[in-house]
Amino acid sequence: MKHILITGANKGVGFETAKQLAQLGNFVFLGSRDLSAGQRAVDQLKAIGITNVEAIQIEVTDPDSIKEAKATLDAKIGTLDVLINNAGISGDAHQQLSESSMESIRQVFETNFFGVLQTTQVMLPLLRKSSAPSIVNVSSEISSLSMNMSENRNSNWKHYSTYGSSKTALNGLTVMLANELREENIMVNNVTPGYTATDLNQFKGLKTPEEGAKPIVALAILTDRTVTGKFFKDGGVVGW
Ligand SMILES: NC(=O)c1ccc[n+]([C@@H]2O[C@H](COP(=O)([O-])OP(=O)(O)OC[C@H]3O[C@@H](n4cnc5c(N)ncnc54)[C@H](OP(=O)(O)O)[C@@H]3O)[C@@H](O)[C@H]2O)c1
Repeated sequence: MKHILITGANKGVGFETAKQLAQLGNFVFLGSRDLSAGQRAVDQLKAIGITNVEAIQIEVTDPDSIKEAKATLDAKIGTLDVLINNAGISGDAHQQLSESSMESIRQVFETNFFGVLQTTQVMLPLLRKSSAPSIVNVSSEISSLSMNMSENRNSNWKHYSTYGSSKTALNGLTVMLANELREENIMVNNVTPGYTATDLNQFKGLKTPEEGAKPIVALAILTDRTVTGKFFKDGGVVGW
């Protein structure tokens, strides 16, 4: 049984990931910036017999909120096996780097990059107390430089270049941090749910949240401790 924290777990892919990981017998803390939304998500799981779950307030752009969440976890369990940095935003209607306001671009990076980094920094002391610590960062194929440079690239992606580049920055973070923490045996990897119907894309995604959660769950429970600095998707790897 692993103790797992998922940010942005009150809905979408994060919620489904929490559900599946709890069904596998892990204890899951559902992170939510609005605690009442997190509590409603937990109530939904408890209503179907999943009791190994708890809501925890965490706003990834607010250092005080992250520190409070860490203190709560420290008092309750004193360790953390898996941190799933899932919280993310796509930004305004205009998501192109060429025309988005700097304020909007900074907001997207604040959540998708700095949010992940500061959550990870604060949670590291708890992860270091685990015998098998793992950090799972939720990225997107839109971030892949090799896919963006391929002749078969998705022409639609250029409309989401603010979001895409924030996730490219996240990819860099994953690789750099994986190398930094390699000797401490802390795994750091990326995963994408794939194009999934959630609020993030006005439910236009082609996968269900249940399907989108699967590769995240697989990475969170991976037993091969040599895997670090990689980027996974359902049934394969994504090129950086
Ligand atoms: N859906 C896709 O097609 C797709 C594809 C590739 C990657 N992803 C990635 O998958 C992850 C989950 O997205 P999703 O599709 O499930 O979207 P979603 O349904 O919109 O869920 C996003 C979650 O992140 C939370 N969140 C946003 N900003 C936050 C902040 N500053 N602090 C804490 N929580 C915050 C949201 O909380 P609120 O409810 O309070 O807003 C919500 O719980 C994201 O990282 C996304 O980039 C999604």
